[in-house]
Amino acid sequence: KVEDEGLNGFPHFMLKEIYDQPETVRNACRGRMNVSEGVAVLGGLQSKMDEIKNLRKLIIVSCGTSYHAGLIGRYIFEALTDLNVEVELASEFRYRKLRLDETTGVLAISQSGETIDTLAAIREARRKGALTIGLVNVVGSTIARETDCGVYCHAGPEIGVASTKIFVSQLVILNLMALLIGRYQMVSLNEGVSLLKALNRLPDQVSDILARASQIDELARIYQKFDNNLFIGRQTHAAVAMEGALKLKEISYIHAEAYAAGEMKHGPISLIDENFPTIALLANDASYDKMLSNIQEIRARSGPVLAITYEGDDQCARHCDDLFRVPQTHDLLQPILTTIPLQLFAYYCARYRGTEIDKPRNLAKSVTVE
Ligand code: G6P
Repeated sequence: KVEDEGLNGFPHFMLKEIYDQPETVRNACRGRMNVSEGVAVLGGLQSKMDEIKNLRKLIIVSCGTSYHAGLIGRYIFEALTDLNVEVELASEFRYRKLRLDETTGVLAISQSGETIDTLAAIREARRKGALTIGLVNVVGSTIARETDCGVYCHAGPEIGVASTKIFVSQLVILNLMALLIGRYQMVSLNEGVSLLKALNRLPDQVSDILARASQIDELARIYQKFDNNLFIGRQTHAAVAMEGALKLKEISYIHAEAYAAGEMKHGPISLIDENFPTIALLANDASYDKMLSNIQEIRARSGPVLAITYEGDDQCARHCDDLFRVPQTHDLLQPILTTIPLQLFAYYCARYRGTEIDKPRNLAKSVTVE
């Protein structure tokens, strides 16, 4: 079959696309970085750069995995630019009564460029006079055509219904977009150079994780027996938790909830027992100690804990049942590396459960009807 030809020997497109990711990062960056100047070069935004420099507010609209990229995008834009940033589910955008004008940018993130709700949000934003920007993978798609300017992922086709490599591509490009704007604002030369150098190192770090996929397979073999899971993280990793839970639900049909770890005490901790494991995401940032104490609270209630943490973390191992380490990178890129083991975890859980990985029941690659 023609479709099988694109598998390159992988049993599923999802796994192939997970393994594509070092190249996906390179493709997202190619020709778009001037490292010595610490600037990003995004041709698709060039014609609107005067308007973009004058933006005061950015509203990111998207659905599904692209929405999770948007949630992380908020932190990226807040870290690098002066913009006020909001993130809205595209399907909810139309119900807001927003004051939009030419100082507001509406950024639509979409793999397909055809998601009906994201398209409707862009049309509404244009009607009200906002500047519309696309971050799209499919070249020439409707959202790409209907936005005022934009950037392509250049990631090639994504066949697996559950999005993997495009999420990573979106996160890379959100960093480049924010850097492009931020270098006209508060980002220094050194900060720009250090982000771009970290991006250059990223493909090898992704490969390092992929080379240890068998460890994740082994963890999935243990954890796939549970029917309920909690994913927790803080800051950008709260959104990574949402993406990890979504991947697991989508393809393995295992129930998973995601919470910003600070909310645990406001509800989900009541679910915890020896049959309700938590996948805890830790990063080397200000939230580390709080995450550790969340883990201790879960273990005190007999909840199994699988931690995804960074290389060099020498404390966490004492407090969790299982652990996987990812390399450390620039804070704004760390969510990319934390996501990869979660994609593999969902994939292997689904394999153990024998589900239809590339075409999960009831789901479509692109939702073009409301
Ligand atoms: C569907 C797909 C998801 C995707 C979402 C948004 O639900 O199954 O993988 O994240 O649509 O799609 P888009 O093409 O707009 O990124």
